[in-house]
Amino acid sequence: MSVRFQKLAVLGHPIAQSKSPYIHTSWMRDYDLQGSYEAIDIAPECYEARVRELIEQGYTGFNVTVPFKERVLKLCDVLDPAAEALGAVNTVRVDEAGKVYGLNTDTFGVIENLKEQMPQDLKEAWSWCDKTFVVLGAGGAARAAVYALLQEGAGRVIVCNRSFDKAQALLEFDESRVQAVRWEERSAILEHCDVLINTTSLGMMGMPGLEISLQALPQEAIVYDIVYKPLMTELLVQAQERGAHVVTGLGMLVQQARPAFREWFGVLPEVKPVLMEALLS
Ligand code: ATR
Repeated sequence: MSVRFQKLAVLGHPIAQSKSPYIHTSWMRDYDLQGSYEAIDIAPECYEARVRELIEQGYTGFNVTVPFKERVLKLCDVLDPAAEALGAVNTVRVDEAGKVYGLNTDTFGVIENLKEQMPQDLKEAWSWCDKTFVVLGAGGAARAAVYALLQEGAGRVIVCNRSFDKAQALLEFDESRVQAVRWEERSAILEHCDVLINTTSLGMMGMPGLEISLQALPQEAIVYDIVYKPLMTELLVQAQERGAHVVTGLGMLVQQARPAFREWFGVLPEVKPVLMEALLS
């Protein structure tokens, strides 16, 4: 692994709100590593040409956000298994010879954040194979979640999405363990759910709320929202009132950044409480 100066950036449109520069520069400081990390807004129409230009200018790595995760994949010479399976890349490394590596670390982020916030007693007795996960949504974040859950050995993953065909498309990962259900059934299917994960943008600041009844949800279930603005979404407040365990979404953002940092610097950084506090303030 190279220890050269890393010239890094997060690429998106829009990108000004990204927390990635803060996260990565604070880890560079923590581990005394040399590099820079910028946020670069790229107009969708000239995306590929602009990324090639940045590589020629000496950038050594990128994080990629919506709407470019699928498009950047085509610029990569080598993909990791998750990026290959999902058809989406969120982390890029350019080696000294100019070879471009594409990774998908969202899968790591979604699982690590769940493990991190799981109550200790549940964690100790946890087995993936007898659990039923209900995933709301079927966009990029849902694809990463479903793929990651199956990789961990999840027993059953029920995908529920407004556009039913997009939910059905996720059966491609494992027809025997993934099931698609219609959006109208989102409350009723919670009866046998162990972990409910919201990957839609509903409940995010400025977006409509997620209308769902948790009446059928078992009391000991976990409710996980990848929305982190606000941190305690209406869904999580409702879940907490029912006595369910809740998992907030900000940790996913931080966890997906860790393997990206390792790809560039060779160190898997620890998440200090002070980093989480700064991101929340
Ligand atoms: P991301 O890549 O971040 O997952 P996305 O691909 O735009 O974002 O996916 C957003 C998800 O939120 C989709 O599952 C979308 O449902 P559709 O596939 O039917 O579009 C879901 N979503 C967005 N607005 C919604 C709404 N008002 N009601 C129900 N689902 C909604």
